[in-house]
Amino acid sequence: MDELDSLPVRVEPMTISDLADVLNIERLAYPSPWSARAYEYELRYNEMAHYFVARTNEATSNGSHNKPFDWLKRMFRPAPTASPPILVGYVGYWLMAGEAHISTIAVHPQFRGRGYGELLLVSTLEDATKRGSHVATLEVRVSNSSAQQLYTKYGFEKVGLRKAYYSDNNEDAFIMTTPPLGAGQYQTKLLRLKAALELRLRERQSSPQLRTA
Ligand SMILES: CC(C)(COP(=O)(O)OP(=O)(O)OC[C@H]1O[C@@H](n2cnc3c(N)ncnc32)[C@H](O)[C@@H]1OP(=O)(O)O)[C@@H](O)C(=O)NCCC(=O)NCCS
Repeated sequence: MDELDSLPVRVEPMTISDLADVLNIERLAYPSPWSARAYEYELRYNEMAHYFVARTNEATSNGSHNKPFDWLKRMFRPAPTASPPILVGYVGYWLMAGEAHISTIAVHPQFRGRGYGELLLVSTLEDATKRGSHVATLEVRVSNSSAQQLYTKYGFEKVGLRKAYYSDNNEDAFIMTTPPLGAGQYQTKLLRLKAALELRLRERQSSPQLRTA
């Protein structure tokens, strides 16, 4: 998302050096997390794989600013220097036979509800379209309504069911797929959603203390 370069959140290709942070989120986000080896394979050897991470300078909203007398402590503290960006989420997809199969998407629990998951999904859809993908598809747990809402927002529709797809609890998966990514109508929808997302992220940038995850 080139136009979003000025925002305090960046989406960049995942590298091996990101794996410690990615695996930390993976363990918090999934009941059956992928191993370091699985990610290493994806990054080093899987030519169909495309993985991205989101980084931000934005602080977590853990409520510490509300502790008694924190305002007093802050008065005597030196002005904060810019903190290094932290990895808050990631996404991956495989480009196979003109289809982008989204293999994973996750945001650190402390950073959810801020538009980062959406940003990762938009970045994936854009990257996949640029690389010639005609549609995007994925599996999602039938119980995972928040992820389903994100996908529905981006035009994914339920097109099938994989029975007992998840081995940890035998849960079924919905198969969700976009309309043709290159269709004018879909691109218009994507542009509209992207503009709204950009506004949301900019609002956060100007008044981060007003919203919490
Ligand atoms: C799914 C996930 C990536 C969403 O990330 P996020 O950064 O919290 O999502 P965003 O703030 O960008 O929200 C974007 C949209 O997602 C949907 N959404 C996100 N959280 C939601 C919630 N708690 N309830 C309902 N809808 C939700 C909404 O449609 C939302 O759009 P809106 O704000 O206009 O309503 C995140 O919840 C996550 O990491 N979950 C665990 C891993 C996972 O289940 N991945 C999906 C595997 S298929």
